[in-house]
Amino acid sequence: MPQPQPMPQPARLVVALDFQTGAEALDMARALSPLAREHGNIWMKVGLELFVAEGPGMVRGLKAMGFKVFLDLKFLDIPNTVRGAVRSAVKCGADMLNIHAIGGLDMARVAVAARDEAAAETGLAEKPLLFAVTVLTSMQDMDNPILRGRPAAEVALELARVSREAGLDGVVCSAREAASIKAACGQDFLCLTPGIRIPDPAAPADDQRRVMTPEEAVAAGSDFLVVGRPVTRAPAGQGGPVAAAREILRRMAAAARGA
Ligand code: C5P
Repeated sequence: MPQPQPMPQPARLVVALDFQTGAEALDMARALSPLAREHGNIWMKVGLELFVAEGPGMVRGLKAMGFKVFLDLKFLDIPNTVRGAVRSAVKCGADMLNIHAIGGLDMARVAVAARDEAAAETGLAEKPLLFAVTVLTSMQDMDNPILRGRPAAEVALELARVSREAGLDGVVCSAREAASIKAACGQDFLCLTPGIRIPDPAAPADDQRRVMTPEEAVAAGSDFLVVGRPVTRAPAGQGGPVAAAREILRRMAAAARGA
């Protein structure tokens, strides 16, 4: 008998707290927390800038506010070092963490085993999600030593296959690649997509090159939409971060309904 498929979860908004101080990050999280309680699908992302400044206490602080936390440190090192880093990330309470897929199959397998071990040792009911970064969304096809002239989408798909083989939960990719990655790796292989921008001719794309709107990302199959500056630097005159996040959630919900 065919196994019943779990219901797909609605896409979640992950707000990138790219700040230099914990105080700024916690202020932003606090401002967004009523909206998060209303919607239930807003995560917070702690990246290199904030983690290097504040350390694991930041993850604990955000979790104490009720958020799920993506610890975006993109590990890439010899397998033994990655093993230790993954264990530490799980033990500090991250709900999601990531490695670079270019570290190869062995490094990725070691990361999966380390995540499983640390989750069991910590007695976690749910294992943290482990993702691999495929191709950074700021890379261009021709100017990069990883791509070496090959289209980013082709390299991302290849790295996604390796990640799936290693047993990871999903990949960080451009929303432009989500549909082909899911077609190749399975619908349950999760896609987390940065490079999201609200369509506004006056708004900057910043340094992101392969951008998509929230609607396009959801329609393409993205499971987690990472949004930083369009929320955190949203102008106060237009309602600031809360209004921007609300608008993105509205667009995501409309796309999920097929509106
Ligand atoms: O401000 P913006 O929306 O461009 O922020 C995107 C966030 O996603 C940043 O924290 C960046 O480090 C992260 N990211 C990315 N591209 C990837 C992986 C992560 O932009 N491939």
